[in-house]
Amino acid sequence: MAGTFEILETEKLAPEPDVFRMKVRAPLVCASTHAGQFVIVRTDDHGERIPLTLMDYSEAEGAIEMAFQVVGTTTDKLSRLREGDCLQDVVGPLGRPTELEGLGRVVCAGGGVGIAALYPIARACARAGNEVRVALGSRDREHLILLDRMQALGVPVDIATDDGSVGIKGFVTELVLKAIKEWSPQRVIAVGPVPMMRAVSVVTKQHKVPTVVSLNAIMLDGTGMCGTCRCEVAGETKFSCVDGPEFDGHQVDFEMLTARLGAYKEEERESWERFESVASDYTGSCGEAS
Ligand code: NAD
Ligand code: FES
Repeated sequence: MAGTFEILETEKLAPEPDVFRMKVRAPLVCASTHAGQFVIVRTDDHGERIPLTLMDYSEAEGAIEMAFQVVGTTTDKLSRLREGDCLQDVVGPLGRPTELEGLGRVVCAGGGVGIAALYPIARACARAGNEVRVALGSRDREHLILLDRMQALGVPVDIATDDGSVGIKGFVTELVLKAIKEWSPQRVIAVGPVPMMRAVSVVTKQHKVPTVVSLNAIMLDGTGMCGTCRCEVAGETKFSCVDGPEFDGHQVDFEMLTARLGAYKEEERESWERFESVASDYTGSCGEAS
């Protein structure tokens, strides 16, 4: 897809570990995007490719919105780009869209920065005629992102924070359990950190509620060719980029996912340290998409 991916808006959504929202011009991407899909972006010619779930997309505006937490070199670079800068490339939409039809009562559970990826899924679930309840978990009030957008969906929104600064004091799993007891959902969709998705899946498995989780595997090509994003689901090897990113939470091997996510921690730390020493010179560029 040729064209420059101009940054239209950036906004800090939450403090350390910083979470940013970025709106980028990408008309061809958003024209065919559905809830649950993602893109792979590169900040510059020398940049690595990272997958980012979409928090919104508007065909009318020809723009996509992404949220990211600053956790390494590439997300640090992204956080330094400003309106008018361009991303080197945006490839997408990738992955399979969320299954939406005829689900019935659905709990959409989001944890931390995963709330951004959950937002279009919850919206699409509601628009498809399902009954939706949203359960959000965050460490505290300041890290609870997109509450206004979630509340604007007009569905019940329950909140849990680790410190009790808003909503109940506890994890989002407690909200999921409460919803199971009071509301008998027919599906739970969980998006967030791996321990959260694993914990939600444990609770829902005990109560026999079908559960979908969105895996945030490390990715490279995003087209099923390289094997970087492989995971195990029901004892079978799957590629998150083309078979997912959503899978049956009761069948995912979360231990393997955690191990694979941590495989390059040392290299990632070294890369970030090297980048930090020159970060103040980093400026955006406007390149043609590959
Ligand atoms: P966090 O650690 O602040 O946790 C957010 C919430 O998740 C907590 O408040 C709690 O409610 C719930 N949670 C966390 N651990 C739990 C556990 N063991 N049991 C039950 N509930 C638990 O989250 P964060 O720092 O915002 O998240 C960052 C992580 O999210 C990164 O690892 C990132 O890769 C991941 N992420 C995942 C996706 C995805 O598509 N699945 C999207 C974006 C980010
Ligand atoms: Fe290469 Fe999925 S990212 S196979």
